[in-house]
Amino acid sequence: MAILITGGAGFIGSNFVLDWFEKTNEEIINIDALTYSGNIKNLESLKNNSNLFFLQGSINDKTFLKKAFEDFKPRAVINFAAESHVDRSISSPENFIQTNIIGIFNLLEISREYWESLVLDSKNNFRFYHISTDEVYGELKPDDPSFKEDNPYIPNSPYSASKASSDHLVRAWNKTYGLPTLISNCSNNFGPFQYPEKLIPLCIINALQNKEIPIYGDGKQVRDWLYVKDHCSAVRKILDKGLPGETYNVGGNNEKTNLEVVSCICDVLNKIRPRENNKSYKELIVHIEDRPGHDKRYSINSSKIFENINWAPKESFESGIYKTVNWYLENPEWLKELMSEEFKKWMEFQYK
Ligand code: NAD
Ligand code: DAU
Repeated sequence: MAILITGGAGFIGSNFVLDWFEKTNEEIINIDALTYSGNIKNLESLKNNSNLFFLQGSINDKTFLKKAFEDFKPRAVINFAAESHVDRSISSPENFIQTNIIGIFNLLEISREYWESLVLDSKNNFRFYHISTDEVYGELKPDDPSFKEDNPYIPNSPYSASKASSDHLVRAWNKTYGLPTLISNCSNNFGPFQYPEKLIPLCIINALQNKEIPIYGDGKQVRDWLYVKDHCSAVRKILDKGLPGETYNVGGNNEKTNLEVVSCICDVLNKIRPRENNKSYKELIVHIEDRPGHDKRYSINSSKIFENINWAPKESFESGIYKTVNWYLENPEWLKELMSEEFKKWMEFQYK
């Protein structure tokens, strides 16, 4: 038995692989194109694990995908691969259309062809699981109820529009061809191995270098934060117990404004790595021009996954952020290697 995953060298995908092998020895075939945000060293601790296979390649390459299915005959596919950063989708949307829409179409088609060739139990038990985002539902007003699975799709950024498109394709492949699909729409993840273009790791690394911590606009935008290990446990449960054709929202019950998130990180750093001048890291916070089309608030109603699958997050925001800050402090080598020309160019482009 084996599962095939895509994007397993990225932030959530690599956490998923590490978490998987803490629980089981079932084989994983990890397909990843190793774009700027993919880092195979995230899986260094599993380098001697003979049940983990890595294939470098893109979901945009159908021939490559077909061969992987023929060689490994997976019982399920989980798609983590995506272009994932909203700001990059605003400055260069094309890659998002290519990977998040055309790539998913390719993966669906190759999976369908493979699934149709299966017999009896293998066919019934096969799953195509697509990892998606709460951003497809658009933004909420302060008093609006949290997103439920039947909320309309109102995406506002090129990123969320591309993810919404992929969700629609997955749904159609279930309704039209009967492919046994699963979708989960998750809130903002945080934890180890997150590429430092995203708010939480960016705040940590800038603070540690005494650089400004950039907050878009007034910083009152609200996100729901989920510790990545909790997301991994939700994905395992949905794969195991989710019903084909269904969608599940996954949230952390941690709604916070961006200013609250950044202040909390500064408080942790003040305690465990005080600045040489003993001033608070909060002094580094600066407000800069807002993100175009910036969604004001996301909030997840996770009652379906709780009631139907018996999943709930274990980590609080405070305990998760403490672990996350500590992880970045303990892994300076991982960070140093990411400080490539590509990363510097992005920072220069986005923040100057
Ligand atoms: P990430 O950017 O850290 O990782 C993406 C991975 O996909 C990288 O390893 C990259 O090399 C790989 N990849 C990109 N294009 C590819 C292609 N064409 N073929 C094969 N591999 C390719 O992203 P992440 O934060 O780990 O997000 C993973 C998934 O979860 C995405 O689908 C994202 O939309 C979704 N998601 C993320 C969050 C979050 O907070 N990070 C929340 C909800 C949903
Ligand atoms: O909601 C789920 C989504 O969460 C995922 O689908 C995306 O893949 C993931 O990147 C994330 O999107 P966000 O845009 O919410 O994450 P980001 O870390 O980029 O930003 C979080 C909030 O912080 C957002 O309101 C924008 C703000 N922000 C971000 C950066 C990078 C700042 O104020 N300053 C910054 O420098």
